[in-house]
Amino acid sequence: MQVAVLGGTGRTGVPFVDGALQRGHRLRVLARDRVKAQRLLPVGHGRLEVVEGDAVDPRALEGLLTGVDAVVDVTGPVKGGPKDLRGQVMRELLPAMERHGGGRLVFLTGAGVRVPGDQPGVADRAIRGVMRLAQPAILEDGQTAVAAIAARQRDWTVVRVPRLTDGQLRGRVRVAAHVGGETGTALGRRDLAVFLLDELEERNWSRQAPVVSW
Ligand SMILES: NC(=O)c1ccc[n+]([C@@H]2O[C@H](COP(=O)([O-])OP(=O)(O)OC[C@H]3O[C@@H](n4cnc5c(N)ncnc54)[C@H](OP(=O)(O)O)[C@@H]3O)[C@@H](O)[C@H]2O)c1
Repeated sequence: MQVAVLGGTGRTGVPFVDGALQRGHRLRVLARDRVKAQRLLPVGHGRLEVVEGDAVDPRALEGLLTGVDAVVDVTGPVKGGPKDLRGQVMRELLPAMERHGGGRLVFLTGAGVRVPGDQPGVADRAIRGVMRLAQPAILEDGQTAVAAIAARQRDWTVVRVPRLTDGQLRGRVRVAAHVGGETGTALGRRDLAVFLLDELEERNWSRQAPVVSW
């Protein structure tokens, strides 16, 4: 599969890129900083192309999307950057996918983002309450981005996750269709990368927003 990756230099992006190359995919990774990409990614690999640019720049997105089968967005707000990054990216990415292609979209966000059908329990509500106090703009941004995807994109999966860690691969995750199902409070990025790749290939959760955790 030819896959466009946004956020490939991030802590989730790096294990995702490594895993995707191991599975034989061809990748086009958008990176704002080529030197950083060279430090973190196997630049020079025959199936990895780095496209320099910003995720909110329509010209960069055009170069990224042409000819791809799927797009994976694992960007996240960084220090000094806008808190409404994900919504900003969707405002450019979704119309760009309509114009230039891109096929299916897999989008990563936090488990504090709610979708219809969620039945949050006491603990879910408490965690979200803390997030609303600590990071209200980021929570709202995720909600905005997911609403835009569901309204405009035909083939998508939103992957919702709790606190991410950089621990060892465990090789097992729990997946719940909704908040309120059987979910844990953390997930390792290596296991998340495996889930994202499985979902990309198998499309088990198309037009859904599963919650993935350890
Ligand atoms: N950390 C958690 O516990 C947690 C929990 C739930 C959900 N999440 C969500 O999971 C996602 C991934 O998290 P992470 O910790 O793996 O991310 P991360 O390490 O912070 O990486 C963020 C990535 O986004 C890229 N990026 C930021 N602004 C960009 C822009 N304008 N154009 C292009 N790329 C841009 C960064 O590129 P540069 O390398 O150029 O900076 C980097 O590759 C985020 O959306 C986060 O909110 C995180």
